[in-house]
This record gives sequence, structure tokens and C-alpha cells, in this order.
Amino acid sequence: MRYRFLNSEIIKKIQFYRERFPLKEQVIIPALHEIQNLYRDIPEGAVEELSDYLSVPLSDIEGIVSFYDMFRHRKNAKNHIRICRNLPCHLSGYKNLLDMIKEKTGANIGKNSPDKKWYIELVECIGSCGIAPAFLINDDLYDGSKIKSEEDLEKILSRYE
Ligand code: FES
Repeated sequence: MRYRFLNSEIIKKIQFYRERFPLKEQVIIPALHEIQNLYRDIPEGAVEELSDYLSVPLSDIEGIVSFYDMFRHRKNAKNHIRICRNLPCHLSGYKNLLDMIKEKTGANIGKNSPDKKWYIELVECIGSCGIAPAFLINDDLYDGSKIKSEEDLEKILSRYE
């Protein structure tokens, strides 16, 4: 298998852990941390590559990634929602907005929705503090303060169905 995400730097680190842990299963979590440190999340292809490299079933690694909240798993969701969590957006109620988005999409921070339509990421300032709490769906910017009800949000989300 040709690796796209497990580059030589990551493989060197995995080897480092392999030499220290007797079981290859013990290497999965530190290896996932290394992957996430490099890519900011765990790309889907990286899970497959890690499974191949360690000769561990794919389902074992997927189980670990979905079990631990510390891992953000990007599984090529159709739509990527980025919500700003910096101070102006925080003070303007980004948390309520986030809760509503989580409920309506079924996705969670760093996790896809079960139907793989949505992926949510918390981000730093996106340069739109004037419309806090600001969020992006793919490349489209939205003013969260204009979302007063679930219906308002549903209207926006329906554009991406
Ligand atoms: S702080 Fe949220 S867009 Fe700037």
C-alpha cells in the first residue's frame, strides 16, 4: 500500500513507539496523536493506512477514534461547519448556536454526523467579529446573531442538503 498520510516523519515516530511497547495495539493511540498533531485532525485515509502499517483491523482503530473525544475524525463529510469560539463570538453566544447546530445536524465537534453530511469544527477568529457569533458552512459565511430560532437554522442547513 502506498501511503499518503503516513509520511516518513510519522513512520519514524511509530517505529519509536513500536520499539517501546510490546503490543502493536499499544501503539495505536500515540500514533493517532502524531497524525492529529500533523494534520490537525485524523483524515479518513490515515486510519486505513495506520491499520495497514500496524496490521491491526481497521475497525479497532476506528473504534478508538470514535470513542475518544480528543480525536477529531474527518471522514470526508459533505459539508464542513466551522464555528468561531474566540472571545467576541463567545460573548455573543456561540455555545447556544453550537448546541443548536449539533442537534440539527447530528454531528459533534470533530465528528461527522451519522449520515456523513456534516462535520463540525471549532476555529479561532475568522475575521468576522462584527457578525459574532460567526460561522462558516463550507465557504459561506453566516451571522449567527440572525439565527433566532430552530427554523432559521433549518432554512440555512437545507441549502446544503
Ligand atoms: S472572534 Fe469570532 S469571528 Fe472574530
